[in-house]
Amino acid sequence: MESSKKVALVTGASSGIGRAAALALAREGYAVLLTARRAERLAGAVEEIRRSGGAAEFVACDLAGPGAAALLARDVDSRFGRLDLLVNNAGWGYCSPLARVPEEVVRMMIELNLVAPILLTKECLPALRRSRGTIINIASGSGLLPSPWYAVYGATKAALVSLSDSLRIEERDNGVRVVSICPGPVWSEFFRASGGAPVHADRLGIKIQTADEIGRIIVRQARRPGRTVATTGAVRLGGFLSRFAPRLFDLIALQWARKVRPEVEQPFLHR
Ligand SMILES: NC(=O)c1ccc[n+]([C@@H]2O[C@H](COP(=O)([O-])OP(=O)(O)OC[C@H]3O[C@@H](n4cnc5c(N)ncnc54)[C@H](OP(=O)(O)O)[C@@H]3O)[C@@H](O)[C@H]2O)c1
Repeated sequence: MESSKKVALVTGASSGIGRAAALALAREGYAVLLTARRAERLAGAVEEIRRSGGAAEFVACDLAGPGAAALLARDVDSRFGRLDLLVNNAGWGYCSPLARVPEEVVRMMIELNLVAPILLTKECLPALRRSRGTIINIASGSGLLPSPWYAVYGATKAALVSLSDSLRIEERDNGVRVVSICPGPVWSEFFRASGGAPVHADRLGIKIQTADEIGRIIVRQARRPGRTVATTGAVRLGGFLSRFAPRLFDLIALQWARKVRPEVEQPFLHR
């Protein structure tokens, strides 16, 4: 049976930005399907949403696993009968000079950050066309600017921005809107999962946003979809400089990269 509420599917909803987005979208009136690997975290978020009168369910799955995208799209359909908003948020970075990034890490990052949102988008498009819905891809400032020590991560996020730009045009006549959100650093489990200590974020020397701030931006974009949204002044300024004064930008980026260079060999910490 079709849900009377609008329905959102949020990936990477067990922590950080995805969890904050799921809670904010539920407050906005969406029925939310949360997904990630850690079932107990997802169950906690679902309980919190239900306690405050919202509607939510969860599916625990490894998005980088084979068949995950088709399974999730089928799940949304059988539980809710419609889909209005897809938030491709699950992602993972690995902090290290490229020369020391293991091949396994390169492949895992591309699978989760790029292949998974491509396949999930493809599977969800029929339902999103029916609802004239919206896709929000959580890219990164690293997708708009050079990302020393996060080169592979930045490459996956730049590709996600490019995917969004093409799809926005392809789907225009079908009524599906496509947004890329590009945050600068955000307090979450991201830096621990990427092998950097939390202090690493402190050393960046730029504003660090909260996951709740990004959750509110996601809700605003769901209401009125834009195009590519840089969430901080630093990302916007960096984008401007790298385009119009690239040599100056490289000099500034080099100083900054030296300051935040990872000092120890990164252990392979993917959880
Ligand atoms: N934090 C930042 O500074 C920052 C800045 C710009 C962009 N971003 C982007 O924002 C998004 C959310 O990151 P965050 O900051 O909220 O970090 P986070 O707290 O580490 O959240 C990452 C989420 O992805 C899920 N995930 C990881 N591997 C998965 C897999 N194989 N299958 C399914 N789910 C998986 C994690 O859940 P499980 O471990 O339970 O699976 C978790 O819910 C990412 O795409 C990230 O690249 C973050």
